[in-house]
Amino acid sequence: MSFNTFGRVFRFTTWGESHGPAIGAVVDGCPPGLPLSEADIQPFLDKRKPGTSKFTTQRREPDEVRILSGVFEGRTTGTPISLMIENTDQRSKDYSEVAKAYRPGHADYAYDAKYGFRDYRGGGRSSARETASRVAAGAVARLVIPDIDIFAYVSEIGGDVIDPARFDASEIDNNPFFCPDPQAAQRWEKLVDEARLDGSSLGAVVECIASGVPAGWGAPLYAKLDSDLAAAMMSINAVKGVEIGDGFAAARLRGEQNADPMRPGEGGPQFLANHAGGVAGGISTGQPIKLRVAFKPTSSILIPVETVTREGAASDIVTKGRHDPCVGIRGVPVVEAMMALVLADQYLLDRAQCGER
Ligand SMILES: Cc1cc2nc3c(=O)[nH]c(=O)nc-3n(C[C@H](O)[C@H](O)[C@H](O)COP(=O)(O)O)c2cc1C
Repeated sequence: MSFNTFGRVFRFTTWGESHGPAIGAVVDGCPPGLPLSEADIQPFLDKRKPGTSKFTTQRREPDEVRILSGVFEGRTTGTPISLMIENTDQRSKDYSEVAKAYRPGHADYAYDAKYGFRDYRGGGRSSARETASRVAAGAVARLVIPDIDIFAYVSEIGGDVIDPARFDASEIDNNPFFCPDPQAAQRWEKLVDEARLDGSSLGAVVECIASGVPAGWGAPLYAKLDSDLAAAMMSINAVKGVEIGDGFAAARLRGEQNADPMRPGEGGPQFLANHAGGVAGGISTGQPIKLRVAFKPTSSILIPVETVTREGAASDIVTKGRHDPCVGIRGVPVVEAMMALVLADQYLLDRAQCGER
């Protein structure tokens, strides 16, 4: 059994390991005739790529994508689109200790327990290097749903939350944290740097909004839009929680507070609130799709942690190598990509059953 493929109609399969020669994705089910070149994909990879500031890992990867198939004379042919990104800055010597002892918070022990054998270099297949392939596939997905606007940002690092009153979407790309609140971004510089200098790490919350999704996408019961989104986000490395709309906060509201009241409007009902996050009964309502994703603090830290060796002996481990002090920051383009991949799939699924809206 292997589970490296996501999606039903718009499907993608990722392949490769952290320290292999390359990683990539095969996108299948993409409609024919869409203009596509590397230039449509590269800006999204540049947003995720490592080594861009002292707040992210110093592994230097250009993350240059090559399209190997599925495009002819600049347009998709409807056949599998193979995308490849070379690994150029892998340093296996940094990981020799990891061959012997399990890193708590990593997949080392779980992979060994399951397979009895693992590529320990940089976490092998469990490495978040794989998320570059998702970002490349997500860029193709965006071409399938050009009218949908998708953006994500960091709303919280190490428990320090943005002030919603200072939310300014134009600020998101003006700081290394994808933060829409410039004051929070300033505080986070100190916060993340202190954690980094301590050899520690911090968690983060990423929020994502997709606007322009018409009412009607999502298929009950086992292809619900919200369950697909939850699965997509939970599949990202280091994600420990997903909330759609108000999420867990909804459990603390009364019914009348949590309702999204409706009034007649031009072209259909208008909603007066969006506690549901744009999904009801697993189907989009036409309101913005809103979700929140919780990233745990980076497991690789310079502070010694108790562990056991492969032979079962007690040991302490310090994870050397190059690591993000807060992986949620580089999670932003990955969350956006997974949103695009789910929506492209749900758009094609809806069109297959109900026709063009
Ligand atoms: C963009 C991104 C970069 C990451 N980089 C690191 C890293 O440098 N060090 C680390 O310990 N974990 C990193 N992670 C998280 C690990 O890959 C992940 O925690 C580990 O594979 C165990 O899987 P799990 O946390 O999903 O259970 C990163 C995650 C993402 C999304």
